[in-house]
Formats: sequence, C-alpha cells, structure tokens
Amino acid sequence: MSFSCERRDKPFRTSSRTSLSLTMWSVKSTVRAGRFACRQISVEAGNVVFGRSGKQFHPMWLRERCVGPASVQQETLQAFRQPHDFPADLGIVSAQVSPLSDSGVAPRTLTVGFTDGHVSVFDADALNNEADDFAACGIQQSDIKCPDVFMWDKSTGSDVPRLSYLDVASGQPEVLLKLTTHLLRYGHVIVEGVPSRDGEVAAFARVVSGYPSVRPTNWGPVFNVRSYPDAALKDLSYTAEKLSPHVDNPYRNPNPGFQFLHVLENECASGESLAVDGFMAAEQLRLESPAFFKTLCQTDVRWENDGGDRSTALIHFAPMLEVDKSTGKLTQIRYSPKSGGYCPALSMEEADTFFQARRRFAELLHAESNTVRFQMVKGDLWIFNNLRLLHGRGEFNPNEGFRHLQGSYVDADAVTSAFFRAKYALKASSDSDSDA
Ligand SMILES: [Fe+2]
Repeated sequence: MSFSCERRDKPFRTSSRTSLSLTMWSVKSTVRAGRFACRQISVEAGNVVFGRSGKQFHPMWLRERCVGPASVQQETLQAFRQPHDFPADLGIVSAQVSPLSDSGVAPRTLTVGFTDGHVSVFDADALNNEADDFAACGIQQSDIKCPDVFMWDKSTGSDVPRLSYLDVASGQPEVLLKLTTHLLRYGHVIVEGVPSRDGEVAAFARVVSGYPSVRPTNWGPVFNVRSYPDAALKDLSYTAEKLSPHVDNPYRNPNPGFQFLHVLENECASGESLAVDGFMAAEQLRLESPAFFKTLCQTDVRWENDGGDRSTALIHFAPMLEVDKSTGKLTQIRYSPKSGGYCPALSMEEADTFFQARRRFAELLHAESNTVRFQMVKGDLWIFNNLRLLHGRGEFNPNEGFRHLQGSYVDADAVTSAFFRAKYALKASSDSDSDA
C-alpha cells in the first residue's frame, strides 16, 4: 500500500509489489506551512498529517505502514523491527505530497521524513482507504474486504442458498467464491448430492477450506448424530429428542467456527431442521433494550461440558454476545442451555438485568418469525457459521427409519481464507487475460 522508504541520502525504489519508481528529492526544502491537498491528504503547519476524513495520522501509524526494504521483507511485507526498536518520541520532520502528473492520473504520494532520519513514501489513496475502512484494507494483502453480512429472519431467509456437489467438487475458484460468499454473507449454504460415504464430510471440509485437516473434537475428526449414542460418549444431540436452537461447543476456546453437517441417511419424515440468524435476533434485542444487549456482551458466563463420558471438563468463560470493539458489529453468538452459560454471582440488580436479558434473547431466538425450517435429505450437506447461526431440529421418530448425520468443524478463518484464495485466483486469472 505504501511505496518505499530509504534513508534520504540514498535513491530508492518502490516495493516489488508496485510498478512505481520514484526519484528521491529533498523533502526538507519543500515542506511548507499551511494546508495543501493530495487526494484529500493534507499537511498542516508543523508537519501534522491529516487523512481525508479529518483524522490525524500518528507518526508511528504512518511508519508501520512503510513497506520499503529497510522496514519489511520484500516478498512477504512482514516487518523486521519490534515496537521498542523505534524511538518512543518518533516524530515527523517533513511531510510532502507529490504534485499531479501531467495526465492527472499518476499515483500520488505522501513523503514523510521521520525524526530518526528515515524517509517513507506512501500511496495517499491507500492511507486514506485504510484509515476510513480498517477492516477492508490490509498491508500484506491490500484487499481484505469480506462480503457484507446480510441478516435475515423467516420472511427474508427462507430460501437457504444451495449449490451442487459436482460444482463444488470441481474446485473452480468461481464456485468456491460463490460458496464462501454465501457463508460469509448469509451464514449458511446447503450443498446437494454429496456422496453418502463415511467420513466424506471431513474430506469435503478439507476441500472447501484448503486446510489439510479439520478441527477435531473429543469425538474425533467427525461426529455422528443419530438416535443412539456414539460409543460411550453421551449428548442430548444423540437422541431422538427435539433440539432447540443452539450453537455447538461454546465451552471450547476458541469455538469451532463453521460446522459441516452431512446427511448420510434419513428415512424419517419427522425431525425437520431449523436455523435462526443469531445476529438478527441480537440486533432485535439491541434495538429493544440497549441495556439488555450490553449486559449480554459484558457478562462472562461459564460454559461447561464433561467430555461426553465425565472423563474431563471443557470450560470456557465468555459472554453470550460479542461485538467488534471498533465497529460495534456483532462477531459471535453463544447460546446453548445444554452447555451451561452459568451466570456468576452478580449483585441482585446486575443479576436481575442479566436474567431478564437472557430470557428475552431466548424468546427472540425461539420466535417463529425468526426461524427458518427445512427438511434435509440424504446427500445434503449443510454448512453454517457456528458463531452466528443457531441450529436445531424437531423431535423425530426413529421407528420411521434410519437417520444418520455426520458432522465436522473447521475454524472460522478456514472459510475466510478460502474466500480470499478464490477471490485472488480469479483476479490473477483476469489480470493475465488482460495482459495477453
Ligand atoms: Fe448441535
């Protein structure tokens, strides 16, 4: 994103990832008082640098974005230095924006001289873009924007996105991009026609994620959901009982990110699956009662599991709702009464607020207006974000026939990295086509 840096007594070139080559000029003599714009970056008297939205750029914020050969390894753009290697009082002695080219389309740069003698040249657009959208613009990869989240309820989410197994198995980046975009935008997708083979779910998860292994649990790389226990390990899921909406494994740290659930056999007409968008329900709660939302974000409750055979304890202390500190957007839902979520001994007033909030959130999660129901058939493989979606099923009658689902997990970043891998592959292909 930024171009280059060297000490100012040396010529310099841009990073290997850019095609721009610049000739060094004296920055000291060109620093001017007053404001002048470069793609809306401005420099005030005293070399105070502002972005287009009016944010002042801290000297260290600028410096850690320098990708010159003295600052970062040129292939990876990974930093050489530690934070304490820089002067604690690092400042700016000069700051200059480049003039417009004759064509008016050349990249425009901000050149900054620092108090330790280092000079950096930055892409003004890249600085502004990152300052305005921290989550979308990176240093080591410039495009790190994920699809926008679309929250849904029964009226807007009843058509669960679907893809065919043969398309996904082809490994084409277009299909992988579509699949991962669905997962990141809507939180789930059903892949139809997946071969009903034991362990296929883990193999499929490895293909989608590009990771050589899935996230194992104490059940192993896959778990089986049927009306009788898996070996000696016990869980409410492994019965014919109805399962209210819940997330899996909130007692683990970190929680498994995406679940892959494959129907190997289903001869039962009963036992319809259900999905609830936890983000939507949490936003409804936030709108209704900011105080309720806040207490569910701030109270670390205790999630528990005994390993399925009482041989161990899986314990995690974490809130029911998590939000991104900078944006306030929801990042994770934890809700599973069978896994505890025990509240600490708060004051009477705090506990009262917490229990009222939890009760109301549970009502919203169970509201029919928030629930999407569908029947999964043999060969369906449902992939869903376990940090966002709650899943469940109706009670089923095992006398109707055999019902066997097999599941596996991958971490959340396995899906986001698959999304970027597909996106970058398509862009590289498009770039090479236009070069030809
Ligand atoms: Fe579950």
